[in-house]
Formats: sequence, structure tokens, C-alpha cells
Amino acid sequence: MSEICRICQFKLNEIIHFGKMPLANAFLTQEQFDHEYFFDLILCICPRCGMLQLQYQPDPKEMFHDHYAFFSSTSHKMSEHFLHFANDIKNTYLCHKKDSFIVEIGSNDGIFLKNFLHTSIKHLGIEPSLNVAKVAQENGIHTLSDFFSKNLSTQIIAKYGKADVITAANVMCHIPNITSVVQGVIELLHPDGVFIFEDPYVGDILEINSFDQIYDEHVFYFSVTSLQNLFQQFGLEIIKVEPQKVHGGSLRYTVAFQNTHHIDTSVHYYQRKENSQRISDPHIWKQFQKNVHEIRDNFITTLNDLKKQKKSVVGYGATSKSTTVLNFCNIQSDLISYICDTTPIKQFKYSPGTHIPILPYSEFQKNKPDYTVLFAWNHFDEIMQKEIDYTNSRGKWIIFFPQVKVL
Ligand code: SAH
Ligand code: TYD
Repeated sequence: MSEICRICQFKLNEIIHFGKMPLANAFLTQEQFDHEYFFDLILCICPRCGMLQLQYQPDPKEMFHDHYAFFSSTSHKMSEHFLHFANDIKNTYLCHKKDSFIVEIGSNDGIFLKNFLHTSIKHLGIEPSLNVAKVAQENGIHTLSDFFSKNLSTQIIAKYGKADVITAANVMCHIPNITSVVQGVIELLHPDGVFIFEDPYVGDILEINSFDQIYDEHVFYFSVTSLQNLFQQFGLEIIKVEPQKVHGGSLRYTVAFQNTHHIDTSVHYYQRKENSQRISDPHIWKQFQKNVHEIRDNFITTLNDLKKQKKSVVGYGATSKSTTVLNFCNIQSDLISYICDTTPIKQFKYSPGTHIPILPYSEFQKNKPDYTVLFAWNHFDEIMQKEIDYTNSRGKWIIFFPQVKVL
């Protein structure tokens, strides 16, 4: 248990205790039911630096290994997102330089770095989950299968030199020892270079009550304010903040060594906004806690009503996020008969903790249910486009943010 802040060692304040949780991506077989791992999922805030974080996070080696279930490339929209991201970086930071070098932390199956193949820009991915790293390697993407750290930075420099750009998407918030990652970035980054990363934004979580973002892998929930507090300890500063529509509302942060780059007005905009929202004030999060309990009660009532009416109800997208919702609400297969998902490694397994069967997408296509809970709500536009026939033939969708609603 870490009852003190991982950034400034101040005593944490508890915001919400979700109870016992399994690992969000630990989809399992029936034989594994008896040995399932659970931990206490408790969201806290540091009253000093404002960083939201989990009180306890399981050992990263339990979560990121050779059978990690999350493959970034399952979403076309995310592929497009990373193509634009790569183009932005090429045009803004790499176009003026010969022999430039980009490193990605948490490169997964190569969804981002594939955009640097067949260019003059050297690239390197760091990806500890061996099975996803292998997919990238098989596609020609240079990938080291390891956890990023200061030590690894030293090895990278010896072999490839300093990086002009370091990126990380949806991974900084995963790493409990974040100060060691920042030290690794300082070591590896060229003095004029930039570190660009994106993660779900705590402001969006607060605004739409998306408590399903809270699970084992996400040890931190960043705001601009809390990140500034972190970076200034290391001589770095945020020079630009850009909102992103992905993962239910994210921010992209561009970070550089202090006084080397112009500070964009977006940084001041977010600082002012967060100040007026009092995003770092533990009292603001009390209302969030109330909203979360209300969503839980309404969701359970809605599903119980549908069961009484003998309606068929399934889930769409066996997301990591769904693990928090299902376990917090204790929803089992009597209320949601299965969850369809396009990821082969999840199929014919069961959801962590509540043991709802995960079936291929073809099951949903064959037998259209009366109601579908949209667990992959962050892909709303993509899925609504794909399922227009279901919706037009009176298929109903259940969403739960900002409150439970049947569409
Ligand atoms: N960047 C991808 C993957 C995000 S999932 C995307 O946005 O889709 C987070 C990834 O980070 C996983 O593939 C996980 O294996 C990796 N990861 C976790 N801890 C890490 C660490 N300490 N260093 C590097 N990668 C890490
Ligand atoms: P993701 O968006 O990464 O959410 P999380 O980070 O919470 O896991 O996961 C989306 C999941 O939904 C993934 O398992 C693939 C699945 N999915 C489908 O089954 N069909 C679809 O059309 C889309 C877009 C996703």
C-alpha cells in the first residue's frame, strides 16, 4: 500500500474505495477461476501536488507480460489517430533535422512507430509485453522488450545516441515509478528535444463521471497542474497542451527542458481552467464519489428491470474499463449474457472477476440482442457507424456516462 504520494511523499486522501478488483485485462479460462488475483482498488488524491493516484497498484510484471491482452491496432480510429500524431511530429519537430531519432515508450504492436518505417528517421520502441512487442518486430519495427528506465536510457544512448523526440501514449499513467521514467527521459532526450505523451485527462473523468478509467494499470490520473508540479522538480516544463478525443478524452502534453522552448497559450489556458474547477481540491472529488454511486445504482436497476422483462442484453467491447464497472456493480452473466469483442486473445475467455463469457463479434452479428451495453464507449462514433443496421432495426444501446441512459 502506498499511503503517501509517489511524487511528493505527502499523505494521500482517499476519494473512493471500489472494493476488491481483479486485473482489468486478466481475461481468464474456467480452470483459472479458483486462482484469480484480486486487490483493493482505492482512488486517492495528494492534497499537496494534486496528483490523483491509486493507493495500491499490483506489480507491473503481473500486468505486462508475454500474454498481455491489449493490442492497440484493433481500432482503425486509433490507427488513424497515430498516423496524424506521427505526421504532426515529423512536420513540427523532425523535418529540419538529418539523422533524427524517435523513441516510443510503450510501443505495443507498433501502431504509432509503423509510420516511421521506410523514412530517414531512426526509430525505437520500448515494449515490455513480449507478445505485443513480437507483433511489432515481425512487422520490421525496431522494438526492445523491456520496461523503460534510466538504466535502459543509458544503454539506448550507447547504441543509438540521444533522442530528438520521445513519445508515450497511454503509458505514463501506467508507471508507478514515474520519477524514474522522468529521469530516464532527461538522460535520453537531446537538450533541444521534446517529450510528447498523451493520457486520459482527469478533467474529463471529473466532468463525465467516467469512473471506468480507474483500474489497476492506470496508477495516475493526470492534470496539467499535477504534471507541472512533477516536471518542475526535474528542470522540465510543459510547453503545449492539446486535447484529444481518444480514450474518452485525453490530453497530449509536449514537454521540454526549462527555458528552451516557447510556452504555448494552451498551457496557461488549462492552468486557469483547472484552478477555477479546483481540480486539485479533495472536496471537489466528494461530488464525483456521489455521482459514481448513483450511476452504479441506476445501472443495476436498469439491468434488473430488463431481466424481469426477459429482454436479451449483451455487452459490446471487453474493454479494460468494463472490468471496473462490472466488478463495482457486481454484474454477472444473469444480467449481461456475453460480451462481444474482436480481439482473438480475449475470445472464449471470461471477464475478470465477474466471469461473463467473451465471444467473437460474429455472435453479435448472428443473434442481435434487444439491448447492448456499450462498454467500448470511447469508440462511440466508429461503432455507431458500424452498427447502423442494428440501431435502425430497433436495437437499443445502454451507456452509463455522464449518467445511465438507454439510446
Ligand atoms: N501506446 C499504445 C499502448 C498503450 S497500453 C497505445 O496507446 O495504444 C500501455 C503499453 O505500455 C502496454 O503495451 C505495456 O506493455 C507498456 N508498458 C507498461 N509499462 C511500461 C514501462 N515501464 N515501460 C515501457 N512500456 C510499458
Ligand atoms: P480500448 O478502447 O483500448 O479500451 P480499454 O483501454 O478500456 O481496454 O478497447 C476497446 C476494446 O473493444 C478492444 O478489446 C476491442 C474492442 N472493440 C470491438 O470489439 N469492436 C469494435 O468495433 C471496437 C472499436 C473495439
